[in-house]
Amino acid sequence: MTQTPARTKEFLMVPPTEYTVAYEINPWMDRRRAVSTPRAHRQWAALVQAYRDHGHQVHLLEGRPGLPDMVFAANGGLSVDGLFYTAVFTYPQRVAEAVWHAAWHQEHGSRVVQATQVNEGEGDFAVVGERILAGHGFRTSLAAHAELARLTGREVVSLRLVDPDFYHLDTALTVLDAATIAYYPGAFDEAARAELARLYPTAVRVASEDAHHFALNSLSDGEHVFCAADAADFIAQVEQRGFAPVPLDLSEFRLAGGGIKCCTQELRC
Ligand code: ARG
Repeated sequence: MTQTPARTKEFLMVPPTEYTVAYEINPWMDRRRAVSTPRAHRQWAALVQAYRDHGHQVHLLEGRPGLPDMVFAANGGLSVDGLFYTAVFTYPQRVAEAVWHAAWHQEHGSRVVQATQVNEGEGDFAVVGERILAGHGFRTSLAAHAELARLTGREVVSLRLVDPDFYHLDTALTVLDAATIAYYPGAFDEAARAELARLYPTAVRVASEDAHHFALNSLSDGEHVFCAADAADFIAQVEQRGFAPVPLDLSEFRLAGGGIKCCTQELRC
């Protein structure tokens, strides 16, 4: 049954045809731990189905040989206000992904702006209402935050990430609705923690255990929160706030340091 979401969203996703752990660029990745390809396909398909069942639209971009992390579509760029700010990846292994994302957006009518600064798209940029929260410290550069602020005219708040297990902002913080976020304080430096407490005094705070279960790699449509099934305390907390959790298992993607949000690029046209 298709339900009507608080706000219908559009996503761009990349099927896991090429997905494997072929190199190690974050602490979750270990080439000796084999990915089960059939299970990865099943888990990814269940995520797509869950989005569609809740009324969201999923567009597909084909994965490309030699780009095993391309399944993590969130990193391909940032779509906001009809503009597509391209990714400039930190690690050479992922650099070529950006071209395919830019081409897709070009074809689909976004105004594609080639970034001049290193950034990993929605992995490090979270749109919260009018504001953009931006991570740095591991992947995205501070210069990219400034470039994005200039291009969009939006307020971009820079937050320093300090724990290598939470190397992208979307592993440490999630947007529940235009005014509500959830985050793991331990992933941020003191200044960022103070800034988050000031801007979002009533935010959901997640403990280390749930954060390590990728609780914060969730995606919310303002009503349903698509989230890791084993993030028990996070699930209870969002329920308490009136959201409806949609628990999903993306454990095969955790082997590469990814989850629900990483697999999802939101289109804001
Ligand atoms: N293996 C990928 C990397 O380290 C995982 C990316 C996860 N994506 C994300 N949006 N956090 O780059």
